[in-house]
Amino acid sequence: MSNLYAVFGNPIAHSKSPHIHAAFAVALGQAMRYEARLAPVDGFAEAIAEFVAAGGKGANVTVPFKEEAFRLASRLSERAARAGAVNTLCFAGNEIFGDNTDGAGLVRDITHNLGSSLAGKRILLIGAGGASRGVIAPLLAERPASLAIANRTAAKAEALAAAFADLAPVEGGDFGRFAGRCFDVLINATSASLSGESLPLPEGVFASGSLAYDMMYGKGETPFLQLAREQGAGRCADGLGMLVEQAAEAFFVWRGVRPETASVLTGLRAGLLG
Ligand code: ATR
Repeated sequence: MSNLYAVFGNPIAHSKSPHIHAAFAVALGQAMRYEARLAPVDGFAEAIAEFVAAGGKGANVTVPFKEEAFRLASRLSERAARAGAVNTLCFAGNEIFGDNTDGAGLVRDITHNLGSSLAGKRILLIGAGGASRGVIAPLLAERPASLAIANRTAAKAEALAAAFADLAPVEGGDFGRFAGRCFDVLINATSASLSGESLPLPEGVFASGSLAYDMMYGKGETPFLQLAREQGAGRCADGLGMLVEQAAEAFFVWRGVRPETASVLTGLRAGLLG
C-alpha cells in the first residue's frame, strides 16, 4: 500500500489524472496505484485522513479543495506558499507536505511543448482567482518584459498584482484598462470558459504573432480561443498540456523521476487515454 496515490476533488468522475499517472508509471516501470476519489464538499480533511490511515503516500488536489489543502499542509514548498493553494500532497510520518505544480506545468507547456519563450514578452493574465494566483510567480521567474492582470472585478486584479509586487512590478485592472494596448502572451485563467462565456477583451489586445493560452480545455474550441482566433492571435493553445505537465511535476515530487510527457499528451488528444 505504500505506493498508493489519488486525486481528490468534487466532482472527480471525469478526471484524466488516473490515466495520466498510470501511463507515467508504466513508462517508468514504477509500481504504484493512482485512484480518483470523490471527497464531500465539507469533508476534505476527513477524506485525506482516511487515505493516509490506509497507507496513501501522496495526493493531487483539484477543485474545490486547493485552498483547503493549503491550510491542511504542515509544511509548504515556497511555490505553494506563494500560490496560496496546494495541488500536490506528500504524506510521510505525521507530516503533510504541500506543493503546487500548476505554475510549473503552465510554464513548461508554453516554453517546452509550444516552444515559446516567455523571456522579454508582454504577458496579460486574465482572471484574478486561485488559478491565476497559482501561476504568477512561475511566470515572473521567466523574466517577461511585463505582466498585467485583467479581471472583471478590478479590485481583485489590483490586490493580486500588489501581492506580487516584491517580485516584479505587476499591473492590475479591469478589461477596459487595457484598451489600446497589445500583448505577446494572453493567458485565460478565468472560469468563464466553463460556462461557455466569452470575455469582454478590448479589440487589438492580441499582438501579431501572439500566443493565446486557455488554462481550460474541452472537446471543442473554448470561447476565449475562438475570440483569440477571430482577433488575429498567432497561435492558440488549450490547457491540456498544462494538465499533463503539472502531473509530471507532481510525479517527480513524489517519485524523484521525471516522466516523458509528449506521448501521454498525444494519447490524450487522440482520445486514447481517458
Ligand atoms: P479559480 O480558483 O478557478 O480561479 P475563482 O477564484 O472563483 O476560481 O475565480 C474565477 C475567476 O474567473 C475570477 O477572476 C472571475 O472574475 P471575478 O473576480 O470578477 O468574479 C472570473 N470569471 C468567472 N466567470 C467570468 C465571466 N463570465 N466573465 C469574466 N470573468 C469571469
